[in-house]
Amino acid sequence: MKIFLTGGSGFVGGAAIKSLAPRHSIVALSRSEKSDAVLKALGAAPVRGDLETVTSEMLAGADAVLHSAAFVEEWGPWPAFEAVNVTGTERLLAAAKKAGVKRFVHVGTEAALFYGQHMRDIDETYPLAPQSPFPYSATKARAEMRVRAANDPANGFETIVIRPRLVWGEGDMTLLPAIAAMANSGKFAWVNQGRAMTSSTHIDNLVHALDLALTEGRPGEAYFVVDGPAVKFRDFLTPYMKAAGVELGEKSLPGWLVRLVADAAEPLFRLTKSASPPPVTRFAAHMMSRDCTINDAKAHAELGFRPVITVAEGLARLAG
Ligand SMILES: NC(=O)c1ccc[n+]([C@@H]2O[C@H](COP(=O)([O-])OP(=O)(O)OC[C@H]3O[C@@H](n4cnc5c(N)ncnc54)[C@H](OP(=O)(O)O)[C@@H]3O)[C@@H](O)[C@H]2O)c1
Repeated sequence: MKIFLTGGSGFVGGAAIKSLAPRHSIVALSRSEKSDAVLKALGAAPVRGDLETVTSEMLAGADAVLHSAAFVEEWGPWPAFEAVNVTGTERLLAAAKKAGVKRFVHVGTEAALFYGQHMRDIDETYPLAPQSPFPYSATKARAEMRVRAANDPANGFETIVIRPRLVWGEGDMTLLPAIAAMANSGKFAWVNQGRAMTSSTHIDNLVHALDLALTEGRPGEAYFVVDGPAVKFRDFLTPYMKAAGVELGEKSLPGWLVRLVADAAEPLFRLTKSASPPPVTRFAAHMMSRDCTINDAKAHAELGFRPVITVAEGLARLAG
């Protein structure tokens, strides 16, 4: 199969190329020379462009699209999130349809449902949050809505969404470096002692699910994929960071206080168009103090998804 992939220079897209390239031909969208080199080394053919300019010609001959690119920065103006996550996804959908792509697999996220609440034992019946106060959440929700609305099997165009939660493992360029930077500069503190319960998705499990979604699952549907039973943030993050040589310490702040500070500071930082984020963003403050536990029975039943690695195995592999 010929696959057009976005986000290949990132954590998720890169791991997907590594796994898929031996069995498929991969063309990957690249924004820079640096990304060209990364993509080639992973086994993909780079095509220069971005989500702002992607055309159907770039996707010529592709059977499937795997859309992993997104504006995943911790901080940025709303229009930047909107332009990449929503408008960029719309443009890619239109290009894919025009190029005769048969299946469009979108990397979604549980954050697209989040507006600051606990989410306990949720499944795909839980509503998206396109009006979330958090730009990442709102724009990823709207992107997913566009993807599912574009599903058009009668005309040979199928779309499907895979939703991981807290992706981790070898090659993590998002969660691990962010926490490590905070810890190394003495700014890390647990929220509520790290007691919040969280589901997680090891990168190997996510890549396996994305692979399945190229051929399995019901078009137009979204599927959560997680490692298994939820764990306490603290029980997960402590060994994860320790394997990278980072000690997180004992400092802890109450959730209500962290949320209060973030809710007060962020509007001021936005008003002044600050280029640097507040000490803690509203998204991070709310996310770290809320439970998020996910039931992925639908992916088991319809995609045939089974985790290929458990949390314990993934942590042991990193520690080794
Ligand atoms: N990591 C997680 O915990 C997690 C959890 C749930 C869902 N997800 C989803 O997984 C996907 C990938 O995330 P990730 O963790 O792999 O992020 P990442 O490592 O930061 O990678 C982001 C990728 O998107 C590309 N990109 C950004 N803006 C672009 C644009 N305007 N045009 C084209 N490409 C652009 C980047 O290219 P450059 O290298 O050129 O910057 C990079 O390849 C996202 O859709 C995210 O929402 C991630």
